[in-house]
Amino acid sequence: MKTYLVTGGAGFIGSNYIHYMFRKYGDSIRILNVDALTYAGNLENLKGVEERENYTFIRADICDKEAITKIFAENDIDRVVHFAAESHVDRSIRNPEVFVQTNVMGTAVMLNCAKAAWELPDGSFKEDKKFLHVSTDEVYGSLEEDGGYFYETTPYAPRSPYSASKASSDMLVKAYMDTYHFPANITNCSNNYGPYQFPEKLIPLIINNALQGKKLPVYGDGKNVRDWLYVEDHAKAIDMVQEKGRLFETYNVGGHNEKQNIEIVKMIIETLREMLPENDERRAHITEDLITYVEDRKGHDRRYAIAPDKIRQEIGWEPETMFKEGIRRTIEWYFDHEDWMKNVTSGDYQKYYEEMYS
Ligand code: NAD
Ligand code: DAU
Repeated sequence: MKTYLVTGGAGFIGSNYIHYMFRKYGDSIRILNVDALTYAGNLENLKGVEERENYTFIRADICDKEAITKIFAENDIDRVVHFAAESHVDRSIRNPEVFVQTNVMGTAVMLNCAKAAWELPDGSFKEDKKFLHVSTDEVYGSLEEDGGYFYETTPYAPRSPYSASKASSDMLVKAYMDTYHFPANITNCSNNYGPYQFPEKLIPLIINNALQGKKLPVYGDGKNVRDWLYVEDHAKAIDMVQEKGRLFETYNVGGHNEKQNIEIVKMIIETLREMLPENDERRAHITEDLITYVEDRKGHDRRYAIAPDKIRQEIGWEPETMFKEGIRRTIEWYFDHEDWMKNVTSGDYQKYYEEMYS
């Protein structure tokens, strides 16, 4: 039975990954979820897995070397899947230090502890141990509107404190692979959407605001482009890279699904109107009149677009969820989880929202 150490498993992608892995492997794997439970970590995301005997939650900070060393000492870890990070670009612009701390220093601790646990006296590594570092397409910088795609060979050019911290963490993983032959992979993925996404990010924020009849804030001219991927397709890609990918390689993961932000906002309005029952009074206020253009994000990257050729050709992964279907499934999930939304938007998030959009 393989033992997985998943960091950041109480966040958006990490929790979707854990659900995906238990659906796929059932009782034949064991997962340890290590998460500090920051504002973005929520154990409600793991309802339904908590009672499994092959799942354990450990509250720990990835920067805490002692705690991470102890986890490796007490468990024979076969796979590390490293999601834990500060993930929101706007927050990184307001407060960069915590991004450097968690994303860079935390990744250094994870690498160091995995290396110490897996290294043999001759400097080689125990058999079949693998570390997967989950990263982002933002490390490649910003593309022009008609200016090509991000390939694995595209030079790094991060432009926000968030992407700079992720690029630094990628470089550390590359350094461990080059220097020690440390058994790792890196995945660089485009924008994810789907269930359990914290409503500071565009898609859940727009769904939540529209349902409440609140303004829909669109940064700048609304024409920045992102390449959207349904989160379950990302979870599948991570598993396939770890099991079928060539060690030491980077794989780009993307949906070939570029959309301007304003298109996304209009599509959410249209889909909400289609999905709400005729007699639901919220339908009346969900119109394009809610769209409000607000001050642009500082240094706002214009366009991201992944070329997922390598992962398709080498591993056979392709996105499976069409955007229209993915958005419907996402909205359906938020309809069914009103309490989840209420719980995460109370307290600290409410304070953040007021400061950010005041
Ligand atoms: P998220 O913000 O939803 O979740 C992050 C999780 O990490 C939370 O559970 C949080 O509690 C935990 N965490 C934060 N700091 C920690 C620390 N010091 N120690 C332990 N746990 C800590 O993030 P997400 O959107 O799920 O992203 C997960 C990973 O995927 C990140 O590394 C991110 O850079 C990467 N990524 C995200 C996207 C996206 O569209 N969301 C796309 C590509 C890559
Ligand atoms: O590309 C992958 C990255 O995608 C991940 O690495 C990050 O962790 C993830 O947060 C995401 O970053 P973005 O900055 O692209 O996502 P966000 O949802 O914050 O914004 C998407 C686009 O929508 C971006 O162009 C900014 C814009 N936007 C966002 C918000 C929150 C708005 O116009 N209004 C908003 O209120």
